[in-house]
Amino acid sequence: MTVSFKWLGHSAYSLDIDGHAVVIDPFLTGNPLAVSKPEDIEAEVILMTHAHGDHVGDSVDIAKRTGATVVCNFEMGNWYSAQGVENVFQGNPGGTYRNDWMDAKWTIAFHSSSFPDGTYGGQPNGFVIRGGGKTLYHAGDTSLFSDMSLIGEEGLDVAFLPIGDVFTMGIKDSVKATKLLNPKYVVPMHYNTFPPIQQSVTDWAEMINRETKAQPIIVDPDGTFTVE
Ligand code: NI
Ligand code: MN
Repeated sequence: MTVSFKWLGHSAYSLDIDGHAVVIDPFLTGNPLAVSKPEDIEAEVILMTHAHGDHVGDSVDIAKRTGATVVCNFEMGNWYSAQGVENVFQGNPGGTYRNDWMDAKWTIAFHSSSFPDGTYGGQPNGFVIRGGGKTLYHAGDTSLFSDMSLIGEEGLDVAFLPIGDVFTMGIKDSVKATKLLNPKYVVPMHYNTFPPIQQSVTDWAEMINRETKAQPIIVDPDGTFTVE
């Protein structure tokens, strides 16, 4: 069983779970950090954390080309269906999407959510993803919240956390979040894409090493990490 992830820039990831492709928040067109092109992305499942443009990104095009199932909240699912996306699975925090090789549980996130066209995007969320013998948490866009300690009880191999500040938690709160989540590996996201969210990721890694038990994993855009 093998699980690896590729950082596509911002909060976008491709996961390889035992040879199956999952994509999270695929924002590539207009993403200054992105290396991959939307037409290169394979997906069987697309997980969506909320409706902002820097997350919805190329998800409609990728879903239509691949036939992937878009897993998202109820309001977002209605919007994807209206765009002509055929396979949509709708849930909300506490609920779980399941298939033969992975599952994804919606978690809470503290943020806002509307589509670029102004449509209400429902509650933003994160996901706890299980597959290939590993457990990963993608926080979405959120502040620090104390219930992350409950998410930590899931036994996390990887936590993907925003560190950019302004629109989400920043570096200091992401270190606190790491203490609550207690993952084996912690991966920074949602930083350096645009000027307001510039951060020193080396400062962040130093703080993670000094103050938590987690191992910080920094990859370049399109860089890959295998979860051992
Ligand atoms: Ni957002
Ligand atoms: Mn965002």
